[in-house]
Amino acid sequence: MSAMTRGFAGVGHTCTKDIAAYYERRALDGVALILSEGIIIHPSADGYNNVPHLHSSEQANSWKDCVSKIHTAGSKIFAQLWHCGRISHKDYTGGIPIVSSTNRQADGVNRQNGKPFGIPRALKTSEIPRIYDMYINAADKAFSAGFDGVEIHMGHGYLIDQFLDAHINDRKDEYGGSIENRCRFAIELLKLFLINYDSSKVMIRISPSRMMGGLYEWPDMEKMLKYLIPKIEKMGLTLLDISCANADYYSTSGKVNRMIREMWPHLLISGASLTPIQADNEVKMKWVDMVTWGRSILANPDFISKVKNDKALIEMTNEIRERLY
Ligand SMILES: Cc1cc2nc3c(=O)[nH]c(=O)nc-3n(C[C@H](O)[C@H](O)[C@H](O)COP(=O)(O)O)c2cc1C
Repeated sequence: MSAMTRGFAGVGHTCTKDIAAYYERRALDGVALILSEGIIIHPSADGYNNVPHLHSSEQANSWKDCVSKIHTAGSKIFAQLWHCGRISHKDYTGGIPIVSSTNRQADGVNRQNGKPFGIPRALKTSEIPRIYDMYINAADKAFSAGFDGVEIHMGHGYLIDQFLDAHINDRKDEYGGSIENRCRFAIELLKLFLINYDSSKVMIRISPSRMMGGLYEWPDMEKMLKYLIPKIEKMGLTLLDISCANADYYSTSGKVNRMIREMWPHLLISGASLTPIQADNEVKMKWVDMVTWGRSILANPDFISKVKNDKALIEMTNEIRERLY
């Protein structure tokens, strides 16, 4: 089950009984690995209404029951760690100015408050380690709650992608410019994770080719991947999730998987609304090792049973998105 923001967090951005029941139903049906909804690492990193945070012990404790129910059902859950960067607004950070790799505002309007995205402040070089600390603190909290692992959200135009992406990153310091420099934030952060936690517990999600308004790709995607993938492999990362947000899989992440497979001998997970036959084929051809589904599992808590028994799936709708079940 891929990460899906739902916006049903409880008071203080906590996990609730309803959230626990929502994940437990999918685990009981046989979903092997659940990637949690994006969980915000620090109040200054938020950009959405009512999403969970993993900043305090109280927030961490609120997940214990949910994680334990998933384990009892025989599944595993990773916490997706999320910093929105400039895809935010002060409305969501309690007035704290939003930060990014750049001072340039994101195009478009925040769907939740109807306002343009806020004007970010480019992080000073000296401030970057403090952001890494926020991620590590959130990961510590996730492990204290019993999560099996963490997925660092490095995709979809959020903070880390704002460093990776040449269209957005206009820095003049060692975190901008060349491919090596633009990858530095992700790599330094990952290094810290691999020092602090076992590699079997650390996954990253990137989205070099995806839907974002229209189809969008890193401008130098192939060169970026040729640098980034061998680099993270040598560092000891073993879990990689390639996302396309909600684009057509074959023209986006399916294409990326075919580009990187030779450079990436470890676990590769990916998917976007594949049919069971397509999914089987991707695994048989070794383009991926595990297939993820998002909307189908959201709309069908009994997705696995339905697929096994060849039953029709309910289509995801806005009405379904508005409730937890
Ligand atoms: C309601 C919704 C919320 C999502 N939230 C997140 C998120 O928090 N983090 C993330 O990495 N991807 C998020 N995604 C993207 C999904 O993880 C997934 O990549 C995408 O939906 C494509 O898979 P699908 O076609 O099987 O749904 C979200 C998708 C949906 C539909």
